[in-house]
Amino acid sequence: MTQKKHSEITETQSCKTGVTGSAVYKILNLYACLGGNRYKWDEVAKEKGIEIEVTAVELDPEAARLYQERFPYDIVVVGDAHQYLLEHFKEFDFIWASPPCPSHSRLVQSNKNKDNYDLRYPEMSLYQEVIFLDNFFKGKYVVENVIPYYEPLIPAKKRGRHLYWTNFLLPTDIGERDTIGISIAKEEVKKLCEFHDYDFYKYKGKQPINKMARNLVDYEAGRTIFETVLGIEKESNVNQVSIFDALT
Ligand SMILES: C[S@@+](CC[C@H](N)C(=O)[O-])C[C@H]1O[C@@H](n2cnc3c(N)ncnc32)[C@H](O)[C@@H]1O
Repeated sequence: MTQKKHSEITETQSCKTGVTGSAVYKILNLYACLGGNRYKWDEVAKEKGIEIEVTAVELDPEAARLYQERFPYDIVVVGDAHQYLLEHFKEFDFIWASPPCPSHSRLVQSNKNKDNYDLRYPEMSLYQEVIFLDNFFKGKYVVENVIPYYEPLIPAKKRGRHLYWTNFLLPTDIGERDTIGISIAKEEVKKLCEFHDYDFYKYKGKQPINKMARNLVDYEAGRTIFETVLGIEKESNVNQVSIFDALT
C-alpha cells in the first residue's frame, strides 16, 4: 500500500480543519490491533483531498510493532486505550474504538456449560467509552463491537455481524463482507490473510494467531464508515446526532 509522508502532500490538496483546529484531520484509533478498520483510510482521505494524522493505541507490543510496520506514518502508542481516551480525547477530530469483544460475544453463552470455561463479567469499559464519547467528545466517534449475548445496554446500530455506536448516521449497508464461510473453513488463517490483505503469520506475540486474524474489522466497512464521516464533515451544516435519538 502506498502512503505519503505529511510533508509530501501537495499544497493543492485542501486540508480540513476539524474540531481541534489543526490543519490535519486528527484521528485516534483505539485498540488498533493490525488496523483492519484503518487500512483504507489513506485512500479515502486522498479522495477527499484532506491530510490525516492517525494515532493508534494498542496494548500488545507485538501487534503494535506490526501495526507500525503496516502504517509507518501513524503515531503508535503501546498502552491502555481506555486510559488514553480519557486523557487525550480533546486532541482529535474523529475517534474509533474497537474494545475487545470476548466478554460480550455470543460464544460466552454457547460455551457456558463447558467444563473449565473461563466465565467472566461483561467488560463495562465498552459502555463507559460510549457514554463518555457521547457526552464529552465534540468530534465524530465510532465504537464497534460484536453482537452480544444480552440486550445491549445502550442501543446501537446493527450492521452485518457487528454493533456500532456512533454520533452520526451510518449507511444501512456499510459494505461489510461476510466471513461466515471463512470462520468454518479448514485453513481459516490462510483465508483471513487473503480476506484482510495481511500476512498474519508475521505475528509472533502471545495471543493465538487465529484470534488475531479474527479480530480485524473488514477494511471495506472501515472504508465506508470513514467516507461517511468525511462526507458529513464536508456538509458543515449537518447537525451532530445523538445515539439516543437517532437509532437506525
Ligand atoms: C477487536 S481487536 C481490534 C481490531 C481493530 N479495530 C482492527 O480492525 O484491526 C482488539 C485489540 O485490542 C487490544 N487490546 C486489548 N486490551 C487493550 C487495552 N486495554 N488497550 C489497548 N489495546 C487493547 C488487543 O490486543 C486487540 O489487538
